[in-house]
Amino acid sequence: MKKIVTTTLLLTCFIAFSQQKTIDQKVDALLKRMTLEEKIGQLNQYTGDNAATGPITINPNKQSEIKTGLNGSMLNVLGTQHTRQYQELAMQSRLKIPLLFGQDVIHGYKTTFPIPLAEAASWDLDAMELSARIAATEAAASGIHWTFAPMVDIARDPRWGRVMEGAGEDTYLGSRIAYARVKGFQGKLGDVNSVMACVKHFAAYGAAIGGRDYNSVDMSERMLWETYLPPFKAALDAGAATFMNSFNDLNGIPATGNKYLQRDILKGKWNFKGFVVSDWGSIGEMINHGYVKDSKEAALAAITAGSDMDMESNAYRYNLAQLVKEKKVPIALIDDAVKRILRKKFELGLFEDPYKYSNPEREQAALNNPEHRKAAREIAAKSIVLLKNEKSVLPISKQTKTIAFIGPLVKERKQNMGFWSVELPEVDYDKHVISQWEGLQNKVGNTAKLLYAKGCEIEGDNKDGFAEAIAIANQADVVILSIGERRDMSGEAKSRSNLRLSGVQEELIKAIQATGKPVVVLINAGRPLIFNWTADNVPAILYTWWLGSEAGNAIADVLFGDYNPSGKLPMSFPREEGQIPIYYNHFNTGRPAKNENETNYVSAYTDLKNSPKFPFGYGLSYTTFEYSNLKLSKNKIKSTEKITVSLNVTNSGKVAGEEVVQLYLRDKVGSVIRPIIELKDFQKIKLNAGQTKTIKFSIDKEKISFYNANLQWVAEPGDFDVMIGSSSADIRLKDSFELLN
Ligand code: GLC
Repeated sequence: MKKIVTTTLLLTCFIAFSQQKTIDQKVDALLKRMTLEEKIGQLNQYTGDNAATGPITINPNKQSEIKTGLNGSMLNVLGTQHTRQYQELAMQSRLKIPLLFGQDVIHGYKTTFPIPLAEAASWDLDAMELSARIAATEAAASGIHWTFAPMVDIARDPRWGRVMEGAGEDTYLGSRIAYARVKGFQGKLGDVNSVMACVKHFAAYGAAIGGRDYNSVDMSERMLWETYLPPFKAALDAGAATFMNSFNDLNGIPATGNKYLQRDILKGKWNFKGFVVSDWGSIGEMINHGYVKDSKEAALAAITAGSDMDMESNAYRYNLAQLVKEKKVPIALIDDAVKRILRKKFELGLFEDPYKYSNPEREQAALNNPEHRKAAREIAAKSIVLLKNEKSVLPISKQTKTIAFIGPLVKERKQNMGFWSVELPEVDYDKHVISQWEGLQNKVGNTAKLLYAKGCEIEGDNKDGFAEAIAIANQADVVILSIGERRDMSGEAKSRSNLRLSGVQEELIKAIQATGKPVVVLINAGRPLIFNWTADNVPAILYTWWLGSEAGNAIADVLFGDYNPSGKLPMSFPREEGQIPIYYNHFNTGRPAKNENETNYVSAYTDLKNSPKFPFGYGLSYTTFEYSNLKLSKNKIKSTEKITVSLNVTNSGKVAGEEVVQLYLRDKVGSVIRPIIELKDFQKIKLNAGQTKTIKFSIDKEKISFYNANLQWVAEPGDFDVMIGSSSADIRLKDSFELLN
């Protein structure tokens, strides 16, 4: 039997190797036939007309350039009809090299899923992989070959609007999610239900100083390697086909022109064989950075640094040929970039059939698949975080007679889609998305009297709607308030210095709370917001992010207990902007405060607590969980050994629920100081009321290693704390072990 398995394995490897060898041979043969202009054309990407995701430069020659092979890729071209039209132009070129169609399919294509930060709050890797799989299926059915996702930027600063697009503040969670999303998008690359992933933004874009988008990033190499690079490496390990560099400068060198990032690390140390696309116009923007004098120098810097494809800056189109003629750019650099791109086009099967992904029948079926909406509803419910539930206001009984639903987001549909949703021209998203009002009607419209009032706008100081809102609240048995942000208030170029609930929304909450009715507040947002009065005074709060096409139904599922909320925060929620950057895995300092009130000669604010309003990993349930019986298989290990951690978790409440059991470690002493706590593993488990499960984790050398001052990845002898938590600030069980050598 063993012999058969070995033979099969060898045969499979040989077939894969020979296929790759064939593709490499085809790439080399095609390259030999290409003129310099045609090679440069492959490094050039233009936007289509279906959406503008950056500052547009009008180019009337786009179509003629495609016909003459001077453009190799388009973005923002949606649907089989449009992609087929552009591909037909490319098929008129001398060498008939097919176009690549890229798109920001960040959280769904037609079926819109929760924003990535919301999905991260589900801590459900299978669900996130499925979400990406469905997004890929729909996008690939619509002619898209390539999504500019996952965004894997670690983000510790909620002033930065793009936190909505990633997986939050933690490197371990972010790495696991990056891996799952790439697997989801790519499936088996070349399959018509798969798209190439594009890991972005390489690198450290989320550390923009002041949380101001596109701002400079300055950090130690150790911080870069330890905190910001691992999710990119995890995505690469998942087989990511492409990377996208980033707008920011890193330690004085723009990422787009950063050889250390793109050649030394990505294509060198990590041996990345795919290609790197610039971010929108980022090659040309190196002029603004003051890194290059003009577009020609920008092209030189970018191609030299390893930026293979130029998105929308035209720097390559208008300068590379001259740079080659002047012998400033060796043709070998051009050839390497072209080969990386052609290899992907062959792997996708586009040379065999350029229209392979532009099949209207498949598009029709994929875009209207009810299974997709069911999956969207399920992950949306899993993404909701229960922040507070005093007096068991939640779940609301389905027998409730009168329910008031108040707020500027109650009847909104499109606002639930969040930023970076794909707006297909032919789809009326104002019908496609289930509003929260509709979700309530679907759930209890036949049994309860539902009252609605807008109360106020999301922004502005008009309180004219308060009276009506108070009046219906007084008629109700329970009041639900839905407030927060519009979908364009978090996202790219949406940095904010003030994270409070905008307008008079919190005053509306106060007015409704004053009626004395049981109140539930839903906070819809793309980022952590600041809402201290609400958090301190309202009995029940659900963080509902932006949940996508099935938002209304998912929220109703949680409100009425058909789904017991299980989400856990992927980012710390600050009490005030003055605390930012705030993150859980910080260092201890030489003068740590012993408690929240100590300020004398310790590292603390004199005017505010140090702790976040809500900590990383936090989220409640309609039931309770008890942790017990923590055991370590050993308390002393060599670096070659592993420890098995086991514990019991019991559902001590009355309803079934899911718990995210979190394993944290602390390395007590290191050659460089170590965080007071670090997430190193987690398991999301489902328990029926009264049920107990034994959970096991494994601690190995990898989990206790870090980059020392010389950037060596080491595990150092010494003592380690083991902490099992329901959040980073709710440690239920503790033990310790010693690494001997
Ligand atoms: C944008 C974003 C990037 C996106 C690209 C194409 O500026 O920074 O994430 O993929 O341009 O839309």
